[in-house]
Amino acid sequence: MNEAVSSFHLVKVYHSKEPVEALKGVDINIKKGELYTLLGPNGAGKTTFLRIISTQLLPTKGEAYVMGFNVVKEAEKAREHIAVVPQDVMTYGNYTPWEYCYYFSLLRGMSRRKAKEMSEKALRAVELWELRNRTCSTLSGGEKKRAIIASVLASDADVLLLDEPTSGLDAVTRRKVWAVLRELVQEGKTILLTTHIMEEAEMVSDRLAIINKGEVIAQGSPDEIKALAKERFRILVEGNVKLLPNHNNRVVSFGNKQIIYVEDEDEAISLVSKALKKGLKAETAPITLEDVFIKLVGGEIE
Ligand SMILES: Nc1ncnc2c1ncn2[C@@H]1O[C@H](COP(=O)(O)OP(=O)(O)OP(=O)(O)O)[C@@H](O)[C@H]1O
Ligand SMILES: [Mg+2]
Repeated sequence: MNEAVSSFHLVKVYHSKEPVEALKGVDINIKKGELYTLLGPNGAGKTTFLRIISTQLLPTKGEAYVMGFNVVKEAEKAREHIAVVPQDVMTYGNYTPWEYCYYFSLLRGMSRRKAKEMSEKALRAVELWELRNRTCSTLSGGEKKRAIIASVLASDADVLLLDEPTSGLDAVTRRKVWAVLRELVQEGKTILLTTHIMEEAEMVSDRLAIINKGEVIAQGSPDEIKALAKERFRILVEGNVKLLPNHNNRVVSFGNKQIIYVEDEDEAISLVSKALKKGLKAETAPITLEDVFIKLVGGEIE
């Protein structure tokens, strides 16, 4: 068995006032030792998927497995292999970050020595070592989040399920977390995370899925996803954009700034040089995952 997480036509319907079909048949396979990211707009179904995989929520139809264990019929067994950072982090106020890491690791059956070692490593990784003995109720929002991330990093679980782990973290800490996640993957852990930060998805993922309205609309490596757009370059222009010579490319405007998408590099360079001659600021770069995400989710790529 090569798969750490797999889902087969997973469907979830929430029965609130109106039934909400949050997942409409999601098939996802995540290999052991892979970092897999779910991207999608608000309400796409990412948290729903993660909560089913983490045995917190029952699917309506379909099946899902964690390390070969059915998340419904063998939930206890599946649970032994996972550690979770939920989207809405709630800390127990009286605990300290150290206690979070150390006791949670002991609870998972780790030896005291290993729990100490792993807790220190995790708390240092998220830069919480200095604050390890403060009670969580006195920590800032981002610091609380870091405490929960540390407890998961210290857990030694095979599969880490992280729902927007870095939202609310500053840029410096975020990059530290990325580095630790990649280290864990090198060590053979499997990570499934969600994010709205496209740079994060591009930097850390081996593969990713874009989910929209409960359906997977694209799946692959960051480069494979980027190759779905026919435009390969973007030009950022600033100034009186009306001065730009006529062209037939797709444009997105933000006041006096424009992003122009073009198919090839020669065309990009020629347009930049025309813009510069008109006294505008202009530069070109390859398109980003964010550009393609917006195109896909906006329905511009079939
Ligand atoms: N308990 C619930 N009852 C009814 N509908 C729900 C419930 N939880 C979620 N939903 C709906 O299911 C859909 C998917 O929600 P989900 O939380 O999985 O989205 P998400 O992709 O995680 O979004 P976000 O990026 O905002 O976190 C949304 O339309 C949401 O309104
Ligand atoms: Mg969510």
